[in-house]
Amino acid sequence: MNQKYLGYLFEIAWILPSVAVPIAFLVAIVITAFAVGIAVPGNVGRVDPKALSTTAPFDQPGVRELAPGRYEAVVIAQLFNFTPGEIEIPAGSKVTFIVTSRDVIHGYKIEKSPINMMVVPGQISRMTTTFDTPGEYYIYCHEYCGAGHHLMVGKLVVTP
Ligand code: CUA
Repeated sequence: MNQKYLGYLFEIAWILPSVAVPIAFLVAIVITAFAVGIAVPGNVGRVDPKALSTTAPFDQPGVRELAPGRYEAVVIAQLFNFTPGEIEIPAGSKVTFIVTSRDVIHGYKIEKSPINMMVVPGQISRMTTTFDTPGEYYIYCHEYCGAGHHLMVGKLVVTP
């Protein structure tokens, strides 16, 4: 094998992966996004962000008791607050949060809890958890959404 031929081999050995790796990434994105249907965590449906005031359940944001100890919190995120801003439930409650955005991408994170969702306009995010420990928990937007992002907080009050 002469020197020149060996040079070509090395060149090919480097060029092929540099083409194959980006193609493999694209294929992985297409498969996860379309074939497997993976979406943003918590995604359970679609809603027209311009029609929230006339679309259930977002036409009536707030906390509802579905059964003893079982609650549903319907929340709208918008620049730069949450509606409702404060949620109060008794300790031991199991709460399902149903959240969407009126405008841009926000986040919905409740401290010391597993509730941690992206809130995307047009998409409904839903997560359920139980709050056993009484106290006040900050709710905050953890996706940068503009000049007032750092002011976008709410509060969850778990009463004894
Ligand atoms: Cu809303 Cu950051």
